[in-house]
Amino acid sequence: MKSILDQSGPVDDVASAKVRLPVARFRDASEASKRVAREIAQLIRQRASENRRCVLGLATGSTPVRVYRELVRMHREENLSFFNVVTFNLDEYFPIKPESPQSYHRFMNENLFNHVDIIRSNVHIPSGTIPLENVSGYCRDYEDLILRSGGIDLQLLGIGRTGHIGFNEPGSTRDTLTRMVRLDSLTRKDAAKDFGDLDRVPLLAITMGVDTIMQSKRIRLLAFGEHKARIVQKALQNRMSSTLPASYLRQHPDMQYLVDGAAASCLPPSIFGTPLQ
Ligand code: GLP
Repeated sequence: MKSILDQSGPVDDVASAKVRLPVARFRDASEASKRVAREIAQLIRQRASENRRCVLGLATGSTPVRVYRELVRMHREENLSFFNVVTFNLDEYFPIKPESPQSYHRFMNENLFNHVDIIRSNVHIPSGTIPLENVSGYCRDYEDLILRSGGIDLQLLGIGRTGHIGFNEPGSTRDTLTRMVRLDSLTRKDAAKDFGDLDRVPLLAITMGVDTIMQSKRIRLLAFGEHKARIVQKALQNRMSSTLPASYLRQHPDMQYLVDGAAASCLPPSIFGTPLQ
């Protein structure tokens, strides 16, 4: 299959790079990841040329790893500087120490921050170590920091098999902000491979809310592999509701799904290139 980005063929193979469509299907995860990395790099450079910061919302999990790899390559080989970049990560397990192998602090350092010239004080990741009684104030401060930085220019997202974005599990309403949440049993089961055992997976997490995510100026959601096909289809086609938090993304004016063939396999061909209702 040709890349959707440089083909002029059938409509259901989607889009040219110029047209923003809500669902773009790519030949594979690597192509989709490079496409998003290019968009991020363009935004960083454009902002740098205007002497402005670029605020990125970042995600963890296996899905965005290739995006980070490509950004690191661009930093090394194409002089992409992160000097003007401010980042806010979506979520973190709770409780968890930042140096723990499963912590999202560690994940971000290993996959991106240790390899680029970002200013460390510009990096924000919810803490997994704050005392319980300080959590709500901490979450309000996280929201405040995002606002004071000018808001998120581009939010990168994955999707969990429960339909979660960040750790906004089923039941998370459209108006939710950064807060402590209880993890769904399916999410914990999926995380058990990282923790070695289900019992070691934390029960709680701190996550940006659905509304926090929806306030981002652009949203790019990546989904790869057959195991994401059903949830991608439901998120795009089921009724919008808190039982499937990712469904709210359809209300966003600059949202795009970037999927590979396997993750797109439950979608009807007509969805490609058709603006969503
Ligand atoms: C975790 C993260 C989510 C991520 C999801 C999917 O639950 N909190 O932000 O989207 O995992 O993970 P993966 O990309 O490994 O499928």
